[in-house]
Amino acid sequence: MTTDDALYELARRTAEEAAELIRSERPQTGRVEVVATKSSRTDVVTDLDRRTEQLIRSRILAVRPHDGFVGEEGAGVSGSSGVEWVVDPIDGTVNFVYGIEAYAVSIGVRVDGVVVAGYVADVPRRRAWGAIRGRGAWRHHDEERIAIRAPRPHSLSHALVATGFSYVPEVRAAQAAAVAKLLPHVRDIRRIGSAAIDLCTLAEGGFDAYVEQGLHPWDVAAGGLVAEESGLVLQGLSGPPDTRLVMAAHPEIAEEYFALVRACGF
Ligand code: IPD
Ligand code: CA
Ligand code: CA
Repeated sequence: MTTDDALYELARRTAEEAAELIRSERPQTGRVEVVATKSSRTDVVTDLDRRTEQLIRSRILAVRPHDGFVGEEGAGVSGSSGVEWVVDPIDGTVNFVYGIEAYAVSIGVRVDGVVVAGYVADVPRRRAWGAIRGRGAWRHHDEERIAIRAPRPHSLSHALVATGFSYVPEVRAAQAAAVAKLLPHVRDIRRIGSAAIDLCTLAEGGFDAYVEQGLHPWDVAAGGLVAEESGLVLQGLSGPPDTRLVMAAHPEIAEEYFALVRACGF
């Protein structure tokens, strides 16, 4: 087993344990209580976001005490090994709160700043995607890995585009204006509510393209690698994807799509 395989297996094992914790603790029906807010009054945190991140962190650092750890809900740990874990314990917290079945545990692993492995566990639907840099992307069926390749889209005008909105009202207003400009040029827009699930769904052909502003490293580390390894191109406003902008599309339409997204004012 190479180091990347070992890192991947730890990500997978830990994410599945975390997903099981979330499934066992969330009541079958009704809402989950919000315990705090972050960047705005709609950016919510539940007790289970925090407990899940603590579980993931303790499991990973118990095995690899010299690694760094960046999680959405806690203070970061800077390690000394060059390996860093980038974790969103629940991506799609608003869905989780309302009981909408689209939220995931997302674990990405960086080595010297480059994401080398990623695993996304869709908690309610029990699906999971993974990727190792240079080795492709796959959907898990228990122990089996079914390779995924993003299909070639018909054309930009037929593209189904996934997107999301920031929790910050001013950013959200600008995003809505840009989406309004994009809409007449594409098939339609989808807003599922979990960037990690969006990127993995895109990787297996569930969408044709993706755009979002204001994402954090934990939203995209794992799903971004799955998308990239499925053959998609990822880009930011003027270079690699970053907090300002993440765009993704099949190479066949990427250039045209990225130019359109920029022209729409994202
Ligand atoms: C959010 C989801 C959502 C995206 C937001 C993210 P969270 O993450 O990924 O789809 O549109 O930008 O912040 O807060 O549920 O972990
Ligand atoms: Ca997130
Ligand atoms: Ca989250």
